[in-house]
Amino acid sequence: MAESVNNLNGDSAERSGEDRIAAVRDAGLVALSASETADALQEWRNQYIGRSGEVTLLLRGVGSLPAEQRAGFGQAANRLKNELEAAYGQREAAISVLTGPIGAIDVSLPGRSPAGGRLHPITQTIREITAAFGAMGFQTFEGPEVEFEGYNFDAMNIPSDHPAREMFDTFWLDRVDEDGNKSILLRTHTSPMQARIMETHEPPIRVVVPGRCYRYEATDASHEWHFNQVEVMAVDECITFADLKGTLYEFARRVFGPERKVRFRCDFFPFVEPGVDMSVDCFNCDGDPACRICRGSGWLEILGAGMVHPEVLRRSGYDPNKYTGFAAGMGVERVAMLKHGIDDIRHFYTNDMRFLSQF
Ligand code: DAH
Repeated sequence: MAESVNNLNGDSAERSGEDRIAAVRDAGLVALSASETADALQEWRNQYIGRSGEVTLLLRGVGSLPAEQRAGFGQAANRLKNELEAAYGQREAAISVLTGPIGAIDVSLPGRSPAGGRLHPITQTIREITAAFGAMGFQTFEGPEVEFEGYNFDAMNIPSDHPAREMFDTFWLDRVDEDGNKSILLRTHTSPMQARIMETHEPPIRVVVPGRCYRYEATDASHEWHFNQVEVMAVDECITFADLKGTLYEFARRVFGPERKVRFRCDFFPFVEPGVDMSVDCFNCDGDPACRICRGSGWLEILGAGMVHPEVLRRSGYDPNKYTGFAAGMGVERVAMLKHGIDDIRHFYTNDMRFLSQF
């Protein structure tokens, strides 16, 4: 290569200046991309842009050109010098990335994949639950976490002297609404959304409402002061307890597996009549007394439910003689704990990547 360039230089009388510059440029760039080691690069530098390199020779030759060619040739040679110096800089950087300052990088090692983010297990569980109901025609709504006392309790048939208020130790806000008479709190459950949705929508209603709730509680393996619930509600003419059972049964099958059996037992919630709790048979064992998920009972309680109380319908402006409905509420953390065999609710909120990256 060097030889042919020298020859080209030697022929200078017959070649136009432009050709000579183009020839040095082409040969130089080809030789540069073939230089793969620091030594080869140094050699290239000497040959092209060093003190007695090709480009320097071109520049030195300017003086012997006819006067009218000097300026144009000199400028073109200088441009070439800048171009080759820049190309040299880039090549040097590329080679030093590969070889490293002490040649320490093994380019044959597999690359490090960037850490991908993912959805929090609680978000995943909420999406699974809302998708199961979505497939049955339920719309997803969200509501305020900071709620009026009236929606959280009164609209849910829990008047201020009702003993059920003791079920919810509540975070009260240190202020009231603009009129100065409505107390504000962090909602203790998603049930107030039943009233908010009925007030603003005509039946038929089929909704699921996921969201964060708060209770003034000491934290332990099964209690957090904040947690998530999903509220479910269907209101229409002629909704019966059979609709409640069929819908919740189908939900349990979709989320906990197609083999699931469900069990309903009587329970009390002020905003439903009759009220029940629903359990699914343990998917982890066959009534094994040592099962750490059902603790040997064979059943896992997953939600509270019931027929919407006539008083709740009436307060929200629906005629209880015309409309009936069912409602249910479940704790998302509990569903996730049962599904994945997690034994402490606090794992969800301590942000330990060893835990979170398993989902
Ligand atoms: N809101 C209740 C709670 O926080 C859960 C609940 C029970 C919701 C029964 C319902 C229901 O809609 O019908 O404990």
